[in-house]
Amino acid sequence: MTKKMPQTKMLDELESGPWPSFVTGLKRLAQDEDQQYAPMMKDLVGQLEESYETKTGYWKGGTVGVYGYGGGVIPRFSLIADQYPESSEFHTLRVQPPAGMHYDTKTLRKLCDIWAETGSGLIALHGQSGDIMFQGASTENVQVAFDKLNEIGFDLGGAGAAVRTSMSCVGHARCEQSCYDEARAQREMINNFLDEMHRPGLPYKFKFKFSGCPNDC
Ligand code: HEM
Ligand code: SF4
Repeated sequence: MTKKMPQTKMLDELESGPWPSFVTGLKRLAQDEDQQYAPMMKDLVGQLEESYETKTGYWKGGTVGVYGYGGGVIPRFSLIADQYPESSEFHTLRVQPPAGMHYDTKTLRKLCDIWAETGSGLIALHGQSGDIMFQGASTENVQVAFDKLNEIGFDLGGAGAAVRTSMSCVGHARCEQSCYDEARAQREMINNFLDEMHRPGLPYKFKFKFSGCPNDC
């Protein structure tokens, strides 16, 4: 039987303003009935509504990762899992975008398909950290999703006290102000420090960003 959509009096308010609302996106995923993630997203929306009602956050951290890595996954477990079992594990994978954030549509479709199969369907492109944020996988599916992403050439980013995911401007690929090959500089720097991203040994976070000129856009 199809799981029912939760009542969302508080969240509905957030859709009433002039701007597009993240709530609309969450509801859309929750109503994708032919997708495996619909029940998970219904419980996620339910828990979020409850958070707004009670003015309380119900996520706690923990330790979740993939083989060989000491970072890159942000674990989230629900404190009210008994009420919202389908979204009780809602972990995020931080995945490094290509330097300069260049994608082709084929790659974007593959990323979406992988997350539709293994996660919640919810992707932030990109989070404030510069990563592709694949938000919402069960503990079991974190490794499965990572393996699939890795197969098409993607790797986890940084989290915690570690070298973080690097960023560069679009630079010489498209911009006449560019003074050097930003994408290459980013790649070489990150490859050099990759071990400190995946197996962190540093006491604090480090981040490298590459601007091709003083405009620093
Ligand atoms: C349990 C504690 C923490 C949690 C759950 C947490 C969670 C997060 C998340 C989810 C992001 C990514 C946001 C996005 O990409 O949109 C982020 C980024 C960030 N956090 Fe935290 N954080 C924690 C502790 C801290 C602390 C203690 C600091 C600073 C003292 C900090 C500073 C930052 C900064 C600067 C970024 C952006 C990093 C970047 O650009 O790569 N966080 N955090
Ligand atoms: S920082 Fe400079 S080189 Fe990079 S995109 Fe902006 S103007 Fe162009």
